[in-house]
Amino acid sequence: MLSQIGRLVVASHNPGKVHEIAALLAPFGIDAISAGALGLPEPEETEPTFVGNARLKAEAAARASGLAALADDSGLEVAALGGAPGVLSARWAEPTTGAGRDFAAAMRRVWTELAGAPDRSARFVCVLALARPGEETYIFEGEVRGHIVWPPRGEHGFGYDPIFVPEGYDITFGEMAPEEKHKISHRARAFARFVDALR
Ligand code: IMP
Repeated sequence: MLSQIGRLVVASHNPGKVHEIAALLAPFGIDAISAGALGLPEPEETEPTFVGNARLKAEAAARASGLAALADDSGLEVAALGGAPGVLSARWAEPTTGAGRDFAAAMRRVWTELAGAPDRSARFVCVLALARPGEETYIFEGEVRGHIVWPPRGEHGFGYDPIFVPEGYDITFGEMAPEEKHKISHRARAFARFVDALR
């Protein structure tokens, strides 16, 4: 059923994300265009869950464009913090001054709030939502489990990568070669499920 998609709006204003998704969809004959290029507004992420926010973004883009739309939402959940920062992962890095995002401060906050708790387990989650006008929205989820370390290590990746060690490894995502991270990441796993549904 998903193979009937010819054109798809990527509900993101992040050119890097749109480019990556377009490359992934090209082999399926799907022409991906960005919400930004269509001049679609970027809705507020007001839901308390990744599924809720991905759904909200995809459905808004599908409604506004009349096309199929794909959106993602992702973040870090730390067990001892009750799942925080969760859907607020990007917001924890928002600057108090006018500067760009401050992930050094966001990582420090994770460590401070852990306050020596023995349970350091955490996971990255990625949810993809595929919405089509007048049809039911599909949800695809991926996760990678691991634990938090301190101090941050590694120069690769982005966001919380330098304090996250994935299960089965002793290096952080920040120390891992990008190709290696892309094989096991929450995003790769969610996309694998989405691509399976396209087949
Ligand atoms: P989104 O773009 O709204 O999905 O925001 C996701 C936020 O979660 C990012 O800004 C990062 O803070 C965090 N995040 C998601 N995926 C990763 C990852 O692979 N590594 C590190 N941080 C991530």
